[in-house]
Amino acid sequence: MMACLWIPARRGRWQALFVTLCLFELSSVAGQARYSVPEEQAEGSFVGNIARDLGLDVTRLISGKARIITKGSRQYVDLNRDKGSLVIKERIDREELCGKTTPCSFSFELILENPIQLYRVTVEVIDINDNSPSFPKGEIHLNIVESVTSGTRFSLESADDPDVGINDIQKYVLTPSDHFKLEVQIQPDGGKFIEMVLQTPLDREKEETHNLVLIASDGGEPHRSGTVRIHITVLDANDNAPVCSQPVYKAEVKENSPTGTVVTSVSATDADKGVYGEVTFSISHVAKESKHIFEVNIKTGELKVAGNLDFEKSKTFQLNVKASDHGGHSDTCKVIIQIIDENDNIPTIQLMSFSNSISEDSPPGTTIAVMNVDDEDSDGNGVVKCSINSDIPFKIESSLTGYYTIVTEDYLDRENIPEYNITITVSDQGSPPLTSSKNINVKISDVNDSPPRFEQSEYIKTLPENNSPGFSVFTLSASDSDWGQNARVSYFLEEKEINGAAVTSLVSVNSENGVIHAVRSFDYEQIKWFEFNVTARDAGSPPLSSVATVKILIQDQNDNPPQVLYPVQTGGSLVAEMVPRSADVGYLVTKVVAVDVDSGQNAWLSYKLQKATDRALFEVGLQNGEIRTIRQVTDKDAVKQRLSVIVEDNGQPSRSATVIVNVVVADSFPEVLSEFTDFTQDKEYNDNLTFYLVLALAVVSFLFITCLVVIISVKIYRWRQSRIMFHSNLPVIPYYPPRYSDTLGTGTLQHVYNYEVCRTTDSRKSDCKFGGAGSQNVLIMDPSSTGTMQRIQSEKSILDEPDSPLEVS
Ligand SMILES: *[C@@H]1O[C@H](CO)[C@@H](O)[C@H](O)[C@H]1NC(C)=O
Ligand SMILES: *[C@@H]1O[C@H](CO)[C@@H](O)[C@H](O)[C@H]1NC(C)=O
Repeated sequence: MMACLWIPARRGRWQALFVTLCLFELSSVAGQARYSVPEEQAEGSFVGNIARDLGLDVTRLISGKARIITKGSRQYVDLNRDKGSLVIKERIDREELCGKTTPCSFSFELILENPIQLYRVTVEVIDINDNSPSFPKGEIHLNIVESVTSGTRFSLESADDPDVGINDIQKYVLTPSDHFKLEVQIQPDGGKFIEMVLQTPLDREKEETHNLVLIASDGGEPHRSGTVRIHITVLDANDNAPVCSQPVYKAEVKENSPTGTVVTSVSATDADKGVYGEVTFSISHVAKESKHIFEVNIKTGELKVAGNLDFEKSKTFQLNVKASDHGGHSDTCKVIIQIIDENDNIPTIQLMSFSNSISEDSPPGTTIAVMNVDDEDSDGNGVVKCSINSDIPFKIESSLTGYYTIVTEDYLDRENIPEYNITITVSDQGSPPLTSSKNINVKISDVNDSPPRFEQSEYIKTLPENNSPGFSVFTLSASDSDWGQNARVSYFLEEKEINGAAVTSLVSVNSENGVIHAVRSFDYEQIKWFEFNVTARDAGSPPLSSVATVKILIQDQNDNPPQVLYPVQTGGSLVAEMVPRSADVGYLVTKVVAVDVDSGQNAWLSYKLQKATDRALFEVGLQNGEIRTIRQVTDKDAVKQRLSVIVEDNGQPSRSATVIVNVVVADSFPEVLSEFTDFTQDKEYNDNLTFYLVLALAVVSFLFITCLVVIISVKIYRWRQSRIMFHSNLPVIPYYPPRYSDTLGTGTLQHVYNYEVCRTTDSRKSDCKFGGAGSQNVLIMDPSSTGTMQRIQSEKSILDEPDSPLEVS
């Protein structure tokens, strides 16, 4: 059985004190009492009247030697046996005794002897607010990155208050509370967990540190509190991007600026600190073609030229310079770079169409070239002017912008200037101007506007007779100032009859080179001169031609010996001249008459006495062949006189004939007869002469027939040739006689000149001097005398009167 008795405490400072006395029906434990006492009571402070509470008498306490038995080492309460009360023996610190355990109590035994009685006494220690809340550290340092978001929690160490109950920490207060708010959480074990919750974001850039105070206060009376200082350092977050100083940078730079030329400088600021505030620059988002043209200094933001700037390729560049901090933020500064044109492009000339040949009959204004002129530069640097050299009959015209045509300004004459060099010059208006030029060569193409032209309109040429057939007389030449086919001259003989014979039977002309050949051998004694026309024709279309008259003079050669006409030389008969003995000095015995079919000097005969019976008796007139006595005939002179007279012409070499003149010096005919037979002694001589004459005749006849055959064949051949030529439309294939070498020397000319000299002077009266053999003679012309003189006369008339060209002997 158990009985508990609660006794209110008689003495209590703050509260009613109850002593509970529970008496247990135990053999050992007679009862128990319970007291409550505030902590921190002074020594000797009354706890409770144990004697009364246990129902014991004080005397019993004394007799029973009542004493307290404590289990622990410390005894907080002592027994006052005399008064029967319990008092504080040692100051009680509840916090030490129980900590946070509540309620806090300790118990001890009260033991009595005689009889032994055991009582349990329990003393409850009541808490008083004797402790303040305290924080583990007086200061708290927190580093918070400014970028943390609202709602982020920061746990704080809670304060501690050893007191319990109301004396324990009742509330926390955080001041100031503009960024943070305090949240206190009660953990399941009753512990408190305090957290700071970020209410509004932090900004290092505004406030770098925050100082807060956390106050913990208990609920005791009076309140006790503890504080802790919270130092918050706001750490920089890279919350600021770099900012370009200008949103758009504009710069200008000349093209062809060397590498390293500073274009502009970009700058950017970053409000962040440290690496987050360090700005670096780079070029971003660049078109491929302008990638390596600029470079930016990573640190300073200086923008430099790094490549070739060509205005013609790109007039502006837009760069994005990225300013970045080390935290991944960036800004982009736009840079617009204007390239300034420089006069660095030479104007170009491009021939669009060009005819390098122009016909000389093109009218003025004919276009010969179209060209395009271009300069890639802009403005004045790209404005071009085009010109050509001025000394030529061409001018330049501008048709469209940038297009020019070169046209003729005047009529052209290829024969005068066959080609032109045109220099086209273009220059721009830059400073200094750039120029370029181009040469074009224009050839003037020929038009058949010039006929062939002979040097003379009339040619007079001499041809020695007895020429070999095919002998080239001379070369005609006509020049044609045209070009090519238009200047290819061919020569043609004009059809004509000369004395009943076609001109082609006399001469031929090489159509190619104009060489005039004699077709046959000419005999001066048959034809003295002839003339014909030669046409020179070019190969143009239509062809042009001109005509020259050629006069051929056959020149005499000494091909005929003098012929003695009198005295007639007969084989057997004897002809003699009679000279009377009474004849005076200068008596004309006879006259040797000889002719020479040649002409000129070749026909000028002289007579000489070659042999004579008596050289002192006769003389022969050198020019007239008159045989005269030079002294008185005497009786002593022989009857028969034989004279041998040689007749020589004046040719080179001279030819001669000899004539025998028998002279009888007698007074009567019978006298002559008596002497007649004596002449027969000359018979042998005459026989020999006859033989040679016959032989000569035969040879001459043979030669003549041969000549005739040759001439006829040549004629037939020529006739057939000409028929072929005239009946075909094919280009003329001229007849080329075989080439004969010019066997006749120029010596023949000598005769011509000699001849001419005599012809032009009046030969009847004046002296005509000749070189060589003729020079020794003084010729006195007697119109009535010899046939030789007549021959000269007739020749003169032929030459003076060209309308009777032929004299056939
Ligand atoms: C044109 O130029 C060429 C070559 O440069 C030269 O041979 C020729 O003689 C020149 N012609 C004229 C007409 O100047
Ligand atoms: C040559 O031609 C001209 C005219 O072209 C003419 O007058 C002259 O008579 C001609 N002469 C001969 C020898 O045919």
